[in-house]
Amino acid sequence: MGKDAEARADEEALLRERMGRIERKIAVISGKGGVGKSIVTANLAVALAWRGHPNAIGVLDADLHGPSIPKLLGMGGDLLEADPEGIRPAEGPLGIRVASMAFLLPSEETPAVWRGPLKMKAIRQFLSDVIWGDLDYLLIDLPPGTGDEPLSVLQLIPDIDGVIVVTIPSEVSEAVVKKSITFARMLKAPIIGLIENMSGLTCPHCGREIEVFSGNAGERIAEELNVPLLGRIPLDPRISEDSDRGIPFVVEHRDTPAGKAFMEIVDRIEGAMREAGRASGPGPSPAP
Ligand SMILES: Nc1ncnc2c1ncn2[C@@H]1O[C@H](COP(=O)(O)OP(=O)(O)OP(=O)(O)O)[C@@H](O)[C@H]1O
Ligand SMILES: [Mg+2]
Repeated sequence: MGKDAEARADEEALLRERMGRIERKIAVISGKGGVGKSIVTANLAVALAWRGHPNAIGVLDADLHGPSIPKLLGMGGDLLEADPEGIRPAEGPLGIRVASMAFLLPSEETPAVWRGPLKMKAIRQFLSDVIWGDLDYLLIDLPPGTGDEPLSVLQLIPDIDGVIVVTIPSEVSEAVVKKSITFARMLKAPIIGLIENMSGLTCPHCGREIEVFSGNAGERIAEELNVPLLGRIPLDPRISEDSDRGIPFVVEHRDTPAGKAFMEIVDRIEGAMREAGRASGPGPSPAP
């Protein structure tokens, strides 16, 4: 084997080893930008960490140009530390392990000016050089669309447990959501389900439900494309207020309609994972 081929084989082996220690790997995608992927990822990570899993939860912020996970989890400028074994992830609330470009750029205003191949390399390094250790879940937050980052993630993790697609209820988002679902299917990634975010608003004055975006894209697409609807998260101004404070919404507001929606979504994700495990696992052991 030539030197280059040897180095590539070593890289592959390291990637497989690191990914092999993570029980569940889930990517969060969307067709359109600004639909709430990062908010969903950060809150699901916290809700999963509350479940008392034996191992930690990890979040890979694979939005290289607009990393927002550290801010949403209230993490400062923690730098990722180099170790002889690799890069140590930063530790967020509840021991959540986080890797993000935000930790590598000198300031919030510095752009990452990278072309496709370099982005693929960066994602590969985030997956294989970061010492994720044993994780119960790794959630991967992605930029919108079907570009280099989602493509790299789905190609580099061929055994990914699935993708979660986030959408808003309006008509315009329907075609783009379908595109995301088709993209995942082309790459043979299972679709765990769809989340309809910004789904209605409870009037703070009269308590009546107001439809802010017309349509019910989530429900309709879920039915049409035969993918589960994991839940609907209403609009709540406290979601962005909390993000600005660096406190994931569920921490202080799990009993609100939006908070409950997040908790139910986690229930459904865990249910889907158990179901998938049963379908592919060795089956129940015989009764003693
Ligand atoms: N249910 C909600 N209620 C109120 N505000 C919300 C809700 N969901 C998201 N937001 C706000 O909408 C904005 C976009 O959310 P977020 O950054 O999570 O979207 P995104 O899909 O990750 O965006 P991008 O495509 O740029 O990565 C944020 O300011 C966030 O606080
Ligand atoms: Mg985002």
